[in-house]
Amino acid sequence: MRDYGQEIAARIAALPQVKDAGLDAAAVAEILEVPQDAAMGDFAFPCFRLAKAMRKAPQAIAGELADALSPDSCGVEVVGAYVNFRLERGAFAAEVLAAVREEGAAYGHSGLGGGRRVIVEYSSPNIAKPFHIGHIRSTVIGAAIARILAALGYEVERINHLGDYGTQFGKLIVAYRRFGSKDEVEAAPIATLLKYYVEFHKQAEQDPSLEEEARAAFAALERGAEAERELWAWFREESLKEFTAVYDMLGITFDSYAGESFYSDKMRRITDELAAKGLLTESEGAQIVDLDDCGLGKALIKKSDGSTLYITRDIAAAVYRKEHYDFHKNIYVVASQQDLHFRQWIKIVELMGYDWAHDCVHVPFGLVRLADGAMSTRTGNVVFLLDVLNQAVEKTRAIIVEKGVLTDDAAEDGPAVDEAAAEIGIGAVVFQELHNNRIKDYVFDWDKALNFDGETGPYVQYGYARAASVLRKAEGMGLSCNNGDTAALTGDAAFALLKKIYELPQAVREAGEKYEPSLLTRHVVDVAQAFSAFYHEERILSDDPTERGRTEAKLALTAAAKQAIGNGLALLGVAAPERM
Ligand code: ARG
Repeated sequence: MRDYGQEIAARIAALPQVKDAGLDAAAVAEILEVPQDAAMGDFAFPCFRLAKAMRKAPQAIAGELADALSPDSCGVEVVGAYVNFRLERGAFAAEVLAAVREEGAAYGHSGLGGGRRVIVEYSSPNIAKPFHIGHIRSTVIGAAIARILAALGYEVERINHLGDYGTQFGKLIVAYRRFGSKDEVEAAPIATLLKYYVEFHKQAEQDPSLEEEARAAFAALERGAEAERELWAWFREESLKEFTAVYDMLGITFDSYAGESFYSDKMRRITDELAAKGLLTESEGAQIVDLDDCGLGKALIKKSDGSTLYITRDIAAAVYRKEHYDFHKNIYVVASQQDLHFRQWIKIVELMGYDWAHDCVHVPFGLVRLADGAMSTRTGNVVFLLDVLNQAVEKTRAIIVEKGVLTDDAAEDGPAVDEAAAEIGIGAVVFQELHNNRIKDYVFDWDKALNFDGETGPYVQYGYARAASVLRKAEGMGLSCNNGDTAALTGDAAFALLKKIYELPQAVREAGEKYEPSLLTRHVVDVAQAFSAFYHEERILSDDPTERGRTEAKLALTAAAKQAIGNGLALLGVAAPERM
């Protein structure tokens, strides 16, 4: 599709006055604005930056530039120190609708990444620990970033860096051998393993020999002793079943589950290399890398008993990934609480002499808190993610049934309700998560998430379903949405909607460049709101034969809006129901 901003920037930059002032097209494009108020035109060029070079008042410059531009364009006008540009609406409509129709499900995607390989690591929960509401952030934000980067033409490798290694597995092995039951674990793996873990600590207080036993079990595990390894693999597998249930509900997948344990045999090389490069120092029997000079404290690499740590495994993982994937970027979607950890190990990789350390990117996010009394808990204060999703479906089902939200052509009960409740309920949770600027802490709030009128998943899904419903009806009336008199789409509501659709690819790009899915989420809300305004302002369906050209143009726009919303939702991982 044409890039109107770039075209206007090129025209401005071609003016001798602007050239003389030292601004090229890229610099002009940087300055060019999209005015908030549509009355101010579609693009605006502020002339303040030229004032010094041209030694004139910005207002005078604006007038001069507008005069110089006018001959080949009708949509130029001066307001104060700005040169404003107006797109020719009919031609713009034809252009946008043709592009959306041609690109279909790929509208908004691009080849920006050029097939370069990018790793996105996300979710990464710890085995035998609850998969709780806090994990929703990495899981959902990370998956969205992965989808967005894939849409931008990167080859994306999705990795779940499971926390499946560490001394706690020695404890679990001992606990299981002493008082565990296979059936109990299989019935509810994580809750049961957690219970054993707690019980282990209770008993170890009475009988400290348990700790020694656990250390021995972990040592055996590290040696690769068969019995211990088998138990550990089974704990891992059972935990993964629970994680997978959540991933399935969210429609999230991974290419690799190479977690911390995967690096257990790759650690020696790292500690050797650190030593050979003179980076390790001894401190109270342990091996550390002293990062005080860079203001990052001291990083503990190897404990006095020889066991390695979380940070060592991250260094090993990064080195392995570079060698195995030769990544362009290696992205970690991990809570901001781990800022120091990431700054430390990325610094260490840099000190090891690897210039690709700069391609390792920590994408942090803030905390999620629950509104008081928002959720009943199953064990203590832990709120399981699976429960949240199930509750979302149940609550949505209640809303659908009670308020009769399902309209005209969606059934009131039966499988249609089940399906809708799942799509809307889970979509609502995911959408709320992605609507927030990721670095900000936020409060999970049912009323907000499930509000059909707010800036929410259900609202956007409703816009999509409404467009689908209009198009179904049109089909029944023998109307087409593939042609029509698109030049007639010049009304304000239609034009505002076209602009939002036009801007979708840019929203996708910015979301990808900043690793910030909320930029796309908010834009999808904008499209849905613009569609709603268009829908209310223009009576779309008309069987008046003399109106047919206009009607079909409106239908073409409806189809484009549906496509744009649908493509946006797909990138966010939110279902787009055809009926609601
Ligand atoms: N398993 C860790 C946790 O739950 C998160 C892992 C983050 N990724 C990493 N490469 N360190 O806190």
